[in-house]
Amino acid sequence: MSTLQVKEIQGIVLHGYGSLNHAGFLLLQVQNAALVKVWLGTLPLRTSEQRPEAADLCINIAFTAAGLKKLGLAEDQLGMFAGEFTEGMTGTEHRRRILGDHGESSPEQWRWGGPGNDGVDVLLLCYAGDEEALNRVVERTVGDYESRGLRLIERLGTVKLPDRKEHFGFRDGISQPAIMGFDEEGTPGNMVAAGEFVLGYPNAYGQYTDRPLVRPEQDPLHLLPVAPEAASHHDLGMNGSYLVFRQLSQDVHEFWNYLAQQAPGKFAGDTTQACIALASKMVGRWPSGAPLVNSPQADNPALADDNDFMFVRSGDADGLKCPIGSHVRRSNPRDALDPEPGSDRSIEVGKRHRIIRRGRAYGPPAAASMQPGEIIGKPADNQERGLHFFCFNTHIGRQFEFIQYTWVNSPKFDGLYEDDDPLIGDRGATEQTRGGVFTVQQEPVRKRVTGMPRFVTVRGGGYFFMPGISAVRYLASLK
Ligand code: HEM
Repeated sequence: MSTLQVKEIQGIVLHGYGSLNHAGFLLLQVQNAALVKVWLGTLPLRTSEQRPEAADLCINIAFTAAGLKKLGLAEDQLGMFAGEFTEGMTGTEHRRRILGDHGESSPEQWRWGGPGNDGVDVLLLCYAGDEEALNRVVERTVGDYESRGLRLIERLGTVKLPDRKEHFGFRDGISQPAIMGFDEEGTPGNMVAAGEFVLGYPNAYGQYTDRPLVRPEQDPLHLLPVAPEAASHHDLGMNGSYLVFRQLSQDVHEFWNYLAQQAPGKFAGDTTQACIALASKMVGRWPSGAPLVNSPQADNPALADDNDFMFVRSGDADGLKCPIGSHVRRSNPRDALDPEPGSDRSIEVGKRHRIIRRGRAYGPPAAASMQPGEIIGKPADNQERGLHFFCFNTHIGRQFEFIQYTWVNSPKFDGLYEDDDPLIGDRGATEQTRGGVFTVQQEPVRKRVTGMPRFVTVRGGGYFFMPGISAVRYLASLK
């Protein structure tokens, strides 16, 4: 039995909608707030109560700070949201540095969400089993945008790749935190407090993360729940979550081309095998998804969904199986964190920096099968493809931004010196933070590749708030 108010939490937060192969993300601008509020009051939002079936149609909604303001949320209420959210993803130089948004990835170059683009107020997420049903649900939900008081900035499409692959050719969406009070099964090292992902519940510190609370007179219709730890206030944040959205373009050709230059001779086998070996070291899993910690020598599709491993406790303190700088080790170091790697304490520290990922790929696959063996050697086709990276968290600074800055983009991660994340690293804005080196720990001597270009470029992004169901009704009722 869930101890979370699943009927109040929008469905995409707790369910991945994996059975729904088609998705469209609508970036919308509020033109007429009064009309938008009428529309909001009627939206059939999918909740987290039931796992969706293949034929279901699911709709969820999130807002930027600008959007909430346009709907009439008072300044004092807006001021209680997380600073990262109200400042926005591109709001300050500091944030750009943290996120590695420079050069081609700088917000001035973005297609949406940047300073030169039309302001996004609302993000509508639509999911269905097939493309026709998806179009139907979009049509039925918004139809004529103007009559809803909205303007469509862009409709972002998605693609479902075979075997749950992302565009480089690796199985994605395997490791997710198990949520206390919701997920019944989970190893203790992976059970994370619900308040890390849904506001209004205790977080990994046993506390309630700051969120917008309103005075009872600001909620005359009593639409909002009473705040669990502050009974004199109504809870606008409860059952909501912050959605981080980054449109990440992947240069698949550059990725495999670089590997073809570097891997042969350094890794065993023919060119394809050597490339796959090095690429898997960079990811921390084989293309099938099998984790290197549990299958260090060769891919093993039987372990495709295996998530039952640590690093130090699994006998890989030194990264001889799964390199220290690999993407999965950086983005979730599990038990490898100071001050005492391998200890329960290390695991508890890691639980303060988890995210739930809900992204979807977009753009045509480089090869229909998505097998690296078939992607390698394909000529560049200049097609735009990548990942609409979504993640949910309740403290953007301590969760998403921390992962991005302190782990992914840091050349000094866990004793390394000049390596950043080989898959998604920003390769630094300055000589001192350049990165672009990947070290494969090995006996008797480590192997290194250098001069790695940036494979992933940011094309757009924003911080959104996905309110609980009652909070959406509250927003719809604002005068
Ligand atoms: C185009 C960009 C990206 C690609 C291609 C990519 C690919 C992958 C792959 C193949 C995995 C392993 C499979 C799995 O456990 O799901 C993975 C895991 C993961 N990624 Fe990414 N990723 C990308 C961006 C990001 C970003 C921006 C973040 C956060 C800042 C991130 C955080 C994670 C996390 C937390 C895991 C799970 C690690 C674990 O618990 O073992 N990824 N990613």
